[in-house]
Amino acid sequence: MPSGHARRRRWPAPRSRFLPAVASVAVLALSGCRPQEATAAPSGSPTPTPTTPTGTEGVFRGSIVLGRPTDRSVVANVWSVDQAGTVSLLVGTAPGQYTRRTAPVALAADTPVELPLGDLTPATRYYYRLQFDGAAGSGPSAERSFRTAPVAGGTFRFGLQGDSHPERLRSQFDSVLYVRTLTAAAADSLDFYVMLGDDFSVDILDPATITAAQVRQRYTLQRPYLGIIGAMSPVFLVNGNHEQAARYLLDGTPNNPAVWAQTARNTLYAQPAPDAFYSGNPEQVSHIGLLRNFYAFTWGDALFVMIDPYWGSPVCVDNPFFGGDKRSDLWTVTHGDAQYQWLKRTLEQSSAKYKFVFAHHVMGTGRGGVEVARLYEWGGRSPNGTTDFAARRPTWPVPIHQLFVQNKVSAFFQGHDHIWVRQELDGVVYQAVSEPADPNYSLFNADAYTTGVKFPNSGYTRVTVSPTGAKVEYVRMYKATDETPGRTSGTVAYSYVIQ
Ligand SMILES: [Fe+2]
Ligand SMILES: [Fe+2]
Repeated sequence: MPSGHARRRRWPAPRSRFLPAVASVAVLALSGCRPQEATAAPSGSPTPTPTTPTGTEGVFRGSIVLGRPTDRSVVANVWSVDQAGTVSLLVGTAPGQYTRRTAPVALAADTPVELPLGDLTPATRYYYRLQFDGAAGSGPSAERSFRTAPVAGGTFRFGLQGDSHPERLRSQFDSVLYVRTLTAAAADSLDFYVMLGDDFSVDILDPATITAAQVRQRYTLQRPYLGIIGAMSPVFLVNGNHEQAARYLLDGTPNNPAVWAQTARNTLYAQPAPDAFYSGNPEQVSHIGLLRNFYAFTWGDALFVMIDPYWGSPVCVDNPFFGGDKRSDLWTVTHGDAQYQWLKRTLEQSSAKYKFVFAHHVMGTGRGGVEVARLYEWGGRSPNGTTDFAARRPTWPVPIHQLFVQNKVSAFFQGHDHIWVRQELDGVVYQAVSEPADPNYSLFNADAYTTGVKFPNSGYTRVTVSPTGAKVEYVRMYKATDETPGRTSGTVAYSYVIQ
């Protein structure tokens, strides 16, 4: 963890040439105010302090969140609430040795830009700085690194977190603890970081007065935090129920919470669209374009599949934004034919050693893991026990869980329940992950899980994939003031290996 204040150091501002090798710099502790974050962070909470980079941050006060990584490319999404100028990336394969500089791109205040970086080598760690040139100053950021996709057989790590819920200040969210968790995850050299939803809650907004700007603010609020992990480890988003990025809210106009949420999501976070590396949703939605809500890719020996019921279902899956009761008949909720057929094809066509599937929750609503995995289109049965699948989904060969079993899915990861639980059903691990920043370290919804190993918040989940197995670890995190012997941040509370 950082301590003290770093003296800011100005670097020569390279402008019209590739950078020569820059001397290595010492690891300096980082601190200090970042004005744009003070306005973006939840009221009453301290400003996030980025750590783990090498060198001083320079004059750029915005954030970098990497996305869409492949074996040969990555995209840096750059955003600053109040700075304008140009930005480019200084890149190399050794610390402090930058052999490339991307073309400068104009950056306007409060307007994210994507800097694509291609022609990379697979299975390689790259070191980079963001070069900012603006009226108020110029210079490179601290150095960070990321890694391209490994070849088959390569060992790598990825991380996961559930429901960060920054709107639930004090009850389920503490800014200092969130920074600690993201900082610890960033230090793990994760190839990427998966967020399982309920990170950009639109539900706290008043339906009578909601605006596009308010919805977008839910997404910019997370930028200072996600810049901590996202500048090192590309971020993949999974849609949650409180985000209200959902088909039932479309009204044919550009002015509804679904369009506002998905547009903010896709402009502020570089998410995958179907291409040579990713498969995913090809649907073009009016006023949004590609949704980028479900997608799959292979990384080393593992297949990763992110699915989403909220855009798939024509009706509200969980809580209706404009009021009303939740649905009692969840046969009316669906991932949709297109997503189902894509999921089936994706699982069947993959020969990956490990297959991981991610969603906010089984069916996007309810509580529990294997307890609800036997129900509706996920498991085929109605709550009364009758197998109504053939009648309710006549064009689907088998329920979703059976697709997992038939295609040897290693594990299904979900959030939503705010508890860490490992279960198993028919050889498939069902893993619920914790909240990252609950200062009360609560054990929510334990009654919904009738089997399995359960742990309370807070922390993140780390998975190491190697030729000998996929090791899943629950890394506990505490506020410094809450640490005691036996309650130490970074401790692995529980781990297991998927063969
Ligand atoms: Fe949720
Ligand atoms: Fe949640």
